[in-house]
Amino acid sequence: MKVLVIGGGPGGYVAALRAAQLGAEVTLVEKKALGGTCLNVGCVPTKVLLNTTELYQTILRGARIGLKAENVSVDWPALQKRRQQIVRRLVTGVGFLLRKANCQVITGAARLDGSNSVIVTDADGQTTKLTADRIIIATGSEPVQLPLPGLDLPEVIYSDAALSLPEVPNSLLIIGGGVIGVELASVYQTLGTKCIVVEMLPQILPTMDEELTEGIKNRLTSLGIEIYTSSQVLSCEPAAGGVTAKVKTPDKELEFTVSNVLAAVGRRSATSGLGLEEAGIQMERARITVDEYMQTSVPGIYAVGDAVGGVMLAHVAFAEGVVAAENALGTRKSIDYKTVPSCIYTQPEAASVGLTEKQALEAGYKIKVGRFPLIANGKALIEGLDGFIKVIANERYGEILGVHILGPHATELIAEAALALKLEATVEELTATIHPHPSVSEAMAEAALAVDKIALHIPN
Ligand code: NAI
Repeated sequence: MKVLVIGGGPGGYVAALRAAQLGAEVTLVEKKALGGTCLNVGCVPTKVLLNTTELYQTILRGARIGLKAENVSVDWPALQKRRQQIVRRLVTGVGFLLRKANCQVITGAARLDGSNSVIVTDADGQTTKLTADRIIIATGSEPVQLPLPGLDLPEVIYSDAALSLPEVPNSLLIIGGGVIGVELASVYQTLGTKCIVVEMLPQILPTMDEELTEGIKNRLTSLGIEIYTSSQVLSCEPAAGGVTAKVKTPDKELEFTVSNVLAAVGRRSATSGLGLEEAGIQMERARITVDEYMQTSVPGIYAVGDAVGGVMLAHVAFAEGVVAAENALGTRKSIDYKTVPSCIYTQPEAASVGLTEKQALEAGYKIKVGRFPLIANGKALIEGLDGFIKVIANERYGEILGVHILGPHATELIAEAALALKLEATVEELTATIHPHPSVSEAMAEAALAVDKIALHIPN
């Protein structure tokens, strides 16, 4: 069976690897770099910058932890070099894995030509026609462009450029208080940039649990980041040394002159120019419509990752890539989106899985909620980071419906909660699991105990 994958990001390369494991003859077409947005200009390079800025913050607090460090500063060119090296190493790794799996990688832009073939155009304009029994589309997403006056100025950038600025900007106004907005505000404010976040909705990170959002907001504000919610940028104009942005807040209009403006108002599926409509593939605006088996409206053509919209996260694309490859080769599997964790790599980190309190109530559950403050957890105290773990359970059966964490290692701890949801575990099962001491993970069991008001390390 011949499988052709369009796009070499997390959805595409994993689909290719899985299809090869199942014995398919696989060709992957990528127009830029293997690894896609996540590896080249998204999750991975952002985390390289965050890793250094977090360490820098810890060292600045050094005196409190018995550390004497003088004249510590961030070497921006060296940090940029490290970002490039890590990205290069991981991209090379993806190429190596595909080669070892006997997947053929072709560089060029693919366009569907009927339901069994694509035309690939390379950088020189040469075209090649490829045929396949199954096609998996994994073309990813691109930043949403706001139709505002002045957003075409060179100082107005998107997240990819924000990761590779030639120098640390003096000031940065970020449009959008979503995940990119808060992570990059954390990075740059720590590096000495004055950061301003303008969010249209009444709260930043609008889809997260409100208590988590509040905790992150307090942390960002304590770093010195200015946050304007229920506010909008009206326009940008050139100014000496940068851009002047006009911002409408609920009670007044403000003007900020900043070195750069970063637009981070979401992403849209990158599906234009692929010949999808002509091939008869059903779309919902830019998103490719798929069924629960990741198949499009044209039998034999599958789509995964940001190209299908939904939750635009690399780990969702990985899971969809595997399912699409397996289904393309004859199984019928679907994904349990209930266990998708959301992670925010601020300091401290935040992570969630399952329902928020509000969502659980809206879904008609009677719930009980347990909270454990990390101030009462020895390991978190040693790490000098505050936060909490909150467990939401079904009142009747004690089934865990959602877990929300703000604190050190939240993005690692959430995997236990995702497994608990996958196994439909109850709070009793979580508390009966022995957690290591001392560790932040103990707080997970304590939060589960707190659901029934029997936590041991806080008064109930
Ligand atoms: P997002 O959807 O997370 O947030 C966009 C924010 O912009 C929302 O809060 C929205 O209300 C606001 N907004 C929209 N229009 C606006 C306007 N005109 N003025 C002011 N605010 C406006 O999108 P973001 O941050 O751009 O991230 C893009 C994608 O990348 C998301 O799907 C995100 O999940 C993913 N991502 C994930 C990360 C992670 O998992 N740690 C890190 C970075 C990105």
